[in-house]
Amino acid sequence: MSNPTPLPNVFPSSRHLLGIKYITADDIYLYLDTARTFREVLERPVRNLPTLRGVQVVNLFFENSTRTRLSFELAEKRLGADVLNFQSSGSSVAKGETLLDTIRNIEAMKVDAVVMRHSAAGAPLFLSERIKSIVINAGDGAHEHPTQALLDLYTIREKFKVLKGLKVTLVGDISHSRVAMSNLIALQKVGAVPAVCGPSTMIPKDLEKLGYTVYHHVDEAIQNSDVLNVLRIQHERAASGTIPSIREYRKYFGINRKRLEKATKPLLIMHPGPINRGVELDSDVADGEHSVILDQVTNGVAIRMAILYLLCRGVQSA
Ligand code: CP
Repeated sequence: MSNPTPLPNVFPSSRHLLGIKYITADDIYLYLDTARTFREVLERPVRNLPTLRGVQVVNLFFENSTRTRLSFELAEKRLGADVLNFQSSGSSVAKGETLLDTIRNIEAMKVDAVVMRHSAAGAPLFLSERIKSIVINAGDGAHEHPTQALLDLYTIREKFKVLKGLKVTLVGDISHSRVAMSNLIALQKVGAVPAVCGPSTMIPKDLEKLGYTVYHHVDEAIQNSDVLNVLRIQHERAASGTIPSIREYRKYFGINRKRLEKATKPLLIMHPGPINRGVELDSDVADGEHSVILDQVTNGVAIRMAILYLLCRGVQSA
């Protein structure tokens, strides 16, 4: 068995990962290239490295999560870090303790890094300005989900070998999606050709002015894309009047085999999860030969190992 690609000896330009908008294209490639080494390690019989031995990481989740929380925990354990898991339900947040008090108390337990998901946009930035620990954004409101965008780019590059020039369309509720925001910024930074598709009530007004292509017809998006990254439609959007009904959404924007068969070439199908099967994506497409949805999950562990490695190595000696 050959040795894995060596790990880089450089650091990203920011000591936190708060959003894709705060990092450079070089940072993005550093995270992706480092993740490739960890992806190789994940294929080995022994998948653990002692790189972050002695580093204390807390996973601070104020919102539900399956993929992000578990893959961060797995990544931390694979790198030998000590892991603390915090969920707001069952904590003193329920008694009214503030976010800042909660994290200051956790930091007093000598925590080096905080992985944080919160419903408030900007919560990780707020914390990073007030605590000493490294802060990693695991999704903040409708603002950003940088680790998801990085694993999405990794998965696209794994399939196409390049990112530059690739036409990647995000389909769904762009206005309320942190996945969409982080992906659009990341794709633009690396020279891909990002686009969006969805009902006009779900597309931010100024996107075209910012250089993004906007499709209001999904068949047009399918004809002009290499990749479709399909977003979850939240059921409350129908109740709030953003779309007339879930059935209408499925009729005009749902991705199904019949629509994809009209494309001139097969498209790569992605979804960050969780999927509403039969709403934004039909099961035969989600589970079909062009879907990389479970590859995204596997790559998520490697990307999060890369992020933890690049940001947290060295804290032992600090
Ligand atoms: N993609 C994503 O963020 O999934 P979870 O909400 O399950 O973490």
